[in-house]
Amino acid sequence: MAKLTVRDLNVQGKRVFVRVDYNVPLEEKDGNVVITDDTRIRETLPTLRMLIQQGGRLILAAHLGRPKGKREPGLSLRPVAARLADLLGKPVAFVDDCIGEKVEKTAGALQPGDVLLLENVRFYKEEEANDPAFAEQLARVADLYVNDAFGAAHRAHASTEGVARVVRARGGPCAAGLLMERELKFLGEELENPARPFVVILGGAKVSDKIKVIDRLLEKADTILIGGAMAYTFRLAQGYKTGKSLVEPDQIEVARAALEKAKARNVRFLLPVDDVVAVPVQTDKLDKKGKPIIEWQNPRVNSDLNCPDDAAGLDIGPATVKAYAEVIAQARTILWNGPMGLFENKPFAAGTNAIAQAVADATARGAKSIIGGGDSVKAINRAGLGERVTFMSTGGGASLEFLEGRELPGVAALTDK
Ligand code: 3PG
Repeated sequence: MAKLTVRDLNVQGKRVFVRVDYNVPLEEKDGNVVITDDTRIRETLPTLRMLIQQGGRLILAAHLGRPKGKREPGLSLRPVAARLADLLGKPVAFVDDCIGEKVEKTAGALQPGDVLLLENVRFYKEEEANDPAFAEQLARVADLYVNDAFGAAHRAHASTEGVARVVRARGGPCAAGLLMERELKFLGEELENPARPFVVILGGAKVSDKIKVIDRLLEKADTILIGGAMAYTFRLAQGYKTGKSLVEPDQIEVARAALEKAKARNVRFLLPVDDVVAVPVQTDKLDKKGKPIIEWQNPRVNSDLNCPDDAAGLDIGPATVKAYAEVIAQARTILWNGPMGLFENKPFAAGTNAIAQAVADATARGAKSIIGGGDSVKAINRAGLGERVTFMSTGGGASLEFLEGRELPGVAALTDK
């Protein structure tokens, strides 16, 4: 059902509680916290500018990371307030809490057009628990509610769902922001009746993560191109050897069923015909997340559908790139979710980069290209092609759940038109 949007609101002089997704990547450099990608902040600017221009008093709420109800200084939104002020070209007030007296006092003193960013809502465990009393406390500074946090809309948390319920119960409008509206348009409406051929490119590590999306898109797509480690679970289901590739043996039946459904529905379902393989060697080094770093030795193209016993498949190979690029060149609508390989590692980035290029080229020739968030967006940006696709989602998990056809709690909570 259509939801109210910010275009429908009259915010003059009102306190507008805006949920944004400022869960941005941070790095520590020389003792300072630096935002390494501010796309999510930039993407909210149209909504914020519109509300500022109309004289709203803006109170922004967001989460950062997963502090699990504890105050973690490294996950403070203070640096985000500074970046937002730079981008908006006006001061952004910051309070080091998201509820309580200080918040209410600062919010009460806001003038029309002023902006306040609250501290990380996840410093309270009640946020993720969607605690009604906590939602009431957040809502104390809200005459109206706007949700522009598409990336967090799959979470039924206090700031994404609970506050909207409180505001609605008081008769206050709850509306989608412009970013939320665009996300729902491109990932939803545009894919309902796509211009054909409709080509879906799906990658990533696991069949289990993507199977619901595959199942749903088998109802709509003309061709599905598979890449990433999940291709090996399909190959395993077909009886091929997968060596040391990442596979999910418990998903073999699921993979078989998808192949059957594709056949029954006449959907072309293409798997890689060659790949880049390498031999994994354990090291005693740990990555930033504390996981052991694997060194990949002897990377090479493998043109056999069987993977060598001592190697793992880490990228699609040149013959696959060629075949996939030809399909993409014919497409009029393209949806891409998930990289073709371990693209963060240079020897295994060529496949993902080539697919990014093929999608950008098809877009230049008039195709509509929609990039379904997370790693695929990272890959397109790394390839320097972010400006050359039609739409890139700011949601990771949210875009996946939405593409599965699930109702997002953050959207469901908004006022119906
Ligand atoms: C995201 O980064 O995908 C969103 O901000 C949601 O974050 P979460 O997975 O920690 O809820």
